Amino acid sequence: MDITFLLNGESVELREVPATVTLLDWLRETRGLTGTKEGCNEGDCGACSVMVTDADGARTLNACILFLPQLHGKAVRTVEGLSSPDGTLHPVQQALIDCHGSQCGFCTPGFAVSMATAHLNGDTNHNDALAGNLCRCTGYAPILRAARAATDQPAPDWLKADQDFFWPEISSGGPGTAGRGADSPPPTCHAPHTADDLAQLYAAYPDATLVAGATDVGLWVTKQLRDLDQVIFLNRCTDLQEITETDTALRIGAGVTMDRVHTLMKTHHPSYAEMIRRYGSTQVRNAATIGGNNANGSPIGDNPPALIALGATLHLRHANTRRDLPIEAFFLDYGKQDRAKGEFIEAVSIPKQADTLRVYKLSKRFDQDISALCGAFNLTITDGHVTEARIAFGGMAGIPKRATQVEAAITGQPWTEATVEAAAPAWAQDFAPMSDMRASADYRLTAARNMLRRAWAEDQGHATRVLEVRP
Ligand SMILES: Cc1cc2nc3c(=O)[nH]c(=O)nc-3n(C[C@H](O)[C@H](O)[C@H](O)COP(=O)(O)OP(=O)(O)OC[C@H]3O[C@@H](n4cnc5c(N)ncnc54)[C@H](O)[C@@H]3O)c2cc1C
Ligand code: FES
Ligand code: FES
Repeated sequence: MDITFLLNGESVELREVPATVTLLDWLRETRGLTGTKEGCNEGDCGACSVMVTDADGARTLNACILFLPQLHGKAVRTVEGLSSPDGTLHPVQQALIDCHGSQCGFCTPGFAVSMATAHLNGDTNHNDALAGNLCRCTGYAPILRAARAATDQPAPDWLKADQDFFWPEISSGGPGTAGRGADSPPPTCHAPHTADDLAQLYAAYPDATLVAGATDVGLWVTKQLRDLDQVIFLNRCTDLQEITETDTALRIGAGVTMDRVHTLMKTHHPSYAEMIRRYGSTQVRNAATIGGNNANGSPIGDNPPALIALGATLHLRHANTRRDLPIEAFFLDYGKQDRAKGEFIEAVSIPKQADTLRVYKLSKRFDQDISALCGAFNLTITDGHVTEARIAFGGMAGIPKRATQVEAAITGQPWTEATVEAAAPAWAQDFAPMSDMRASADYRLTAARNMLRRAWAEDQGHATRVLEVRP
């Protein structure tokens, strides 16, 4: 695949780029730009953070799980491109020096890039912006002090220039197979521009790997060292990135990133948004899509419980045939979803409803950690009684799953502590969770039971979140 992008202000054109070369490897091995560090090589530590700018603005991404073809038509800044051409440091770099925000320095380039992106975007929520950057020796206080110190400085002009760069004709250009002779083998790397083109391509290559944000697929390459024969990138299908709102539903395209779902849910279902704030990190949420998070069928994916509790519908497409499925019916068994070869997720729709949703993510670390379990409670209380209950969990079975016995035990009952306690035995009828490194079966069952207690307690106005409880 042929691609063109801007790297630290200079145009780069690459021909016949293999589908799965990561930006991190290319920067370090081909360009000698070793400021971008390799720490975990799986999206966890942020040492490889780069700034990527396109029509939607500037965002931080992890270069270790970002494939080169995903960069076509965008502007990339590495730590080497943060300072001005005459060597003047970016305000966040100077602040890191002034506030003693670096010791061994390994993590520092990643922090500087994340801080510069937040600074450019006027984002002063430094805790969230830096939750995906790990430091093992400085400690976070001086780094946060540096982020705060730089806040009032203007964004440097040389960075703003990236936002002017924008080659719409390149962003919507061809799939980059130009120059192939008639005898050339068929392309192995595709980048359709519309869902219609994707549908035709995927029907023709049903064994191809779809790549949306690559926060899963990236790890197949960097950790499992898998070779992917045919790859179809979805990131140029802008119609898959649309959010539409009608009187009755919110339709979220499969290519919408978790960062955008986060913003959307702040208005519609704030508890869902609060859970997403703890989904991966800024870098992960900027890449991961809602389509990928459902398609992978993970039993610990964080969207499915909330979507099941909201009664969402999945819109699937194979060539020109479309079908709709209640999302809970999509998850058949561990690793098995109701999706035919060549069929893809086009969107997910959430019915418009009064916000009664509560979502609780439980993980060992507050930020950037996979859930041990994640529970979503959508309870309608009318005249003090539970008139409708939709409760769904991740991490409690081989698939994201509803707690139908618990729902039955509380529906029609007064919304009281006694009802919550009376429903306690039903949890073990719904779930027989496994023990693994994240939690024991007993812990999971107890925690799920306690989440219903928590939902009740919150309805009574009690503070239950650890971060909210004050002595
Ligand atoms: C550091 C890190 C932290 C993470 N934290 C969390 C977390 O807190 N919670 C959580 O739930 N997950 C987490 N994840 C997992 C991951 O982010 C999600 O599963 C993500 O949403 C996958 O989306 P993607 O767009 O990156 O998918 P990709 O990696 O591009 O694809 C994932 C799978 O879905 C398929 N696919 C993608 N789009 C479609 C489509 N439209 N139709 C059909 N198939 C499709 C792909 O072929 C592939 O099989 C984390 C991952 C990393 C690396
Ligand atoms: S090297 Fe750790 S996130 Fe990329
Ligand atoms: S300065 Fe050493 S890891 Fe952060």
